[in-house]
Amino acid sequence: MENHSFPELGLTAKRSIFWLLIMAFASYSYLVYNAGTEYDRGKSFYSESAKDGKLVFQEYNCIACHQIYGLGGYMGPDLTNVMTAPGKGRPFAEAFIRSGTAKMPRFDMSDSALVHLLDYLQYVGEAGNYPVTDAQPTWYGNINLKTDADE
Ligand code: HEC
Repeated sequence: MENHSFPELGLTAKRSIFWLLIMAFASYSYLVYNAGTEYDRGKSFYSESAKDGKLVFQEYNCIACHQIYGLGGYMGPDLTNVMTAPGKGRPFAEAFIRSGTAKMPRFDMSDSALVHLLDYLQYVGEAGNYPVTDAQPTWYGNINLKTDADE
């Protein structure tokens, strides 16, 4: 018995569908592999100064009281975005480190150590956000992150 549930397609129609699928695959692949890959190397490059700053951060044991990406001690606030958050930044962080507060000791480090330390915190802040509050997938498969810093 013949099966008539599928209409017979002509060769031209089959070829059109074939090429349509190839084109769809090619454009989808192009989008997926290229969208959202722009990366400003100059901005968040892990400079020599930032590397030295990480050692300063370890030497003075800032992590005993502070967190980076939520990990660390809990006496002071998370420092991931202290350099990049609106209303904070370099002079703000410098004031805390140089002068201390009732709860944070002041640190008597050399000027160059302080510059390295701030460069390290700058690098950490530019490399990511913590906490991430909202992650929305786009129709083409990337993720848009909405963070506290955007509000
Ligand atoms: C003994 C615990 C302790 C240590 C060690 C410590 N801090 Fe703090 N830090 C605090 C506390 C507590 C605060 C909150 C200040 C307040 O409320 O008085 C703070 C605040 C800060 C702030 C302001 C953050 C903000 O978003 O308001 C920065 C920047 C900072 N510290 C950097 C550092 C760095 C860099 C080091 C290491 C060199 C360090 N701290 C070491 C306890 C500490």
